[in-house]
Amino acid sequence: MSVLPLSTENYQNVAIRDIKLGMFVIAVTKQKGDIHFKPGMVSSEATCRSLQSMGVLEVKIDLTRSKHQQETLLENPESNLAPEEQVQEIMTPTEKKESRKQAQKLYAEAKILQTKLLDALKNGEVVDIAPLEAMADEMVDSIFKNPDAMIFLSRIREKDTYLMEHSLNVGMLLANFGRYLKLSRQTIKDLLVGGLLHDTGKVMVPDEILHKPGRLTPDEFVIMKKHVEYSVQFLDKAEGISSIMRTVAANHHERLDGLGYPRGLKGLELCLISRISTIVDVFDALTADRCYKKGMQATQAFHILLQGAGTQFDETLVKQFIKCMGIYPIGSLVKLKTGKLALVIESNTETPLQPVVKIIYSTTGQHYLDVKIVDLARNTTEEIENVVHPKAYGIDISQFF
Ligand SMILES: [Fe+2]
Repeated sequence: MSVLPLSTENYQNVAIRDIKLGMFVIAVTKQKGDIHFKPGMVSSEATCRSLQSMGVLEVKIDLTRSKHQQETLLENPESNLAPEEQVQEIMTPTEKKESRKQAQKLYAEAKILQTKLLDALKNGEVVDIAPLEAMADEMVDSIFKNPDAMIFLSRIREKDTYLMEHSLNVGMLLANFGRYLKLSRQTIKDLLVGGLLHDTGKVMVPDEILHKPGRLTPDEFVIMKKHVEYSVQFLDKAEGISSIMRTVAANHHERLDGLGYPRGLKGLELCLISRISTIVDVFDALTADRCYKKGMQATQAFHILLQGAGTQFDETLVKQFIKCMGIYPIGSLVKLKTGKLALVIESNTETPLQPVVKIIYSTTGQHYLDVKIVDLARNTTEEIENVVHPKAYGIDISQFF
């Protein structure tokens, strides 16, 4: 039995007498004799006894995957429900409109704060994350209240602000995925702040490499990869950085097969936080418009993630991420069988193939239509044919929020 060289802060060694139900054991660190061990959650007293009788003296647990750890942090009585059973707050149309307005205001403020943060770092100033923490609190509230509104905002891009928007979007997508996975509120907030800070080291990468249209040369790639190290250095100098925030920054380019960077960590060396960070970071990068390329549609990005599932990415988490985002993700443009184009603005958990859409354009007449909101679950005449790219019709989705 080998002892794995694990270094992340989200692991803890626990003596066998202190092991508790719900702990996720990833390795045996002390033992008597030869032991055949498979990682997993301690789900019964019988498992505890069997570990003892096998001669296990001490194990390493992954705190982020341990139910025991999550439960001590949980504030929400619904938290023991499976993701599918999550209860969404029911809002009237006026409340929904209000929550969309609030989300939009918050998102605008977040953009300003994030820009200031990156500017401060460029000028060599020490980061104060207190304002980010306060904003993250409000954003987590907003995500719990109306996740669709926040996710819609994260799908709208402006040109030339890639780093700021990518960081903000990774933060929001991570928080939303954390909500879906029923992680504790504190973990969700840390994920959000971790996302905001994960690429801060890019301010140290020369612009000609950072914004190079096209493939980087091997030498340029070496410089680009250094952004992870720089991000971690920034975080180590800042106060109030949790181990979750640091993990998002340090491990978002690692891959399960060990082919990521900077440390080439693999398999069990990557905790839950690292695994979800890589998935979200890749998803956002693939769907982003850059000055030199069109962003992919979310559904195309899902295919890429699925291709890497089981090798580069955690297969179960990729599938859960896709489920969390929805078959027709918020912000997607879809073509209806009647030839109209519509924007997906709200998901229907009961009927995921029939989301709520905003009809905006006629492909047969090639003109915009009076905007009409239709709940496809309640409308028998409209049905989705496929997802289309807004650029194919010259449509700017940002004006339809
Ligand atoms: Fe990065």
